[in-house]
Amino acid sequence: MKTILIAGGTGMIGSRLSSVLKEKGYEVYSLARKTKNRTHIHWNPLSKNIEGRNLNKINIIVNLVGENIGKKKWTTARKKELLDSRVETTQYLFNIRKNFPNLEYYIGASGINCYGINNTSIPNIETDPYGSDYMAQLVKAWEESSVLFQEHYPGSILRIASVLDRQGGVLSKLKAPTRFGLSSPLGSGEQLMPWIHVDDLCEMVVHCIENKLTGTYNAVAACDSNREVMKTLSKKMRRPFFMPNVPAKFLKMLYGEMSVLILGSVNASSDKIKATGFKFKYPTLQQALQELLQKK
Ligand SMILES: NC(=O)c1ccc[n+]([C@@H]2O[C@H](COP(=O)([O-])OP(=O)(O)OC[C@H]3O[C@@H](n4cnc5c(N)ncnc54)[C@H](OP(=O)(O)O)[C@@H]3O)[C@@H](O)[C@H]2O)c1
Repeated sequence: MKTILIAGGTGMIGSRLSSVLKEKGYEVYSLARKTKNRTHIHWNPLSKNIEGRNLNKINIIVNLVGENIGKKKWTTARKKELLDSRVETTQYLFNIRKNFPNLEYYIGASGINCYGINNTSIPNIETDPYGSDYMAQLVKAWEESSVLFQEHYPGSILRIASVLDRQGGVLSKLKAPTRFGLSSPLGSGEQLMPWIHVDDLCEMVVHCIENKLTGTYNAVAACDSNREVMKTLSKKMRRPFFMPNVPAKFLKMLYGEMSVLILGSVNASSDKIKATGFKFKYPTLQQALQELLQKK
């Protein structure tokens, strides 16, 4: 079985992916700035150091590194952190590629926001141009750094939608008001929110690896309106859904430029990955939420 290195393996997606890959028999290591166990390999890409242990065994890199987009307001300093933690870290990994003599495949994470906002009438496909807003341009720079790898190794880039997971991420944020029956559409509620169940995303990574896919793929199960998401979540949590819309103005005041993550509308197609034979286990919001909300 191959040996996989997950950069960003300590994060929400990375930790789930690590378990999925181990269950399938892969040997998995994660790059981490704070190591917690023997499968963690210490690095700090911004100060350009990495522990040499086990790097020569690596056959596949999955690069999920990046400061959390929705954690802090987008000040100039934060924007630099968002960019550097994606672009400089990937460039660093590329520059030290001689440490990975057995590397044969690379997957880079990217964002579905690459097409720009309020682009909803026809679902975007992978050949569509980048948008001109901040997020789209950030994703463009991020993908360009992954292309460095793609010029030397077969590999793919996954344009990831909002990941629905039990732990953290967007679902935790939406569940908090819903639990108190305070769920309501955000802004007009008409904006489309692309999403994917974390297990489908992990299976998509496995699918890319096992089929040696190359190119760029939208990692999105569906794009539902914000109103639909909030309403379905309330229903699944057996809570009322009657509150008036939260005005866009208020959200803009609260979150500044970052409010685009809630108010912007993105529509994207999953046809390309499906055409490679990938099948979503959770293709609808009902199915995804049913699984994520059930007690384990
Ligand atoms: N979750 C989503 O809904 C979603 C949607 C689209 C795209 N994505 C992208 O997918 C990737 C993983 O997402 P996630 O939700 O798992 O994120 P997360 O939980 O915030 O984890 C981020 C990971 O990146 C690492 N990291 C951050 N800044 C770093 C830096 N400067 N140097 C080295 N490592 C750094 C963290 O490592 P440490 O443990 O060392 O801090 C952590 O392992 C991110 O790039 C994210 O933008 C996520």
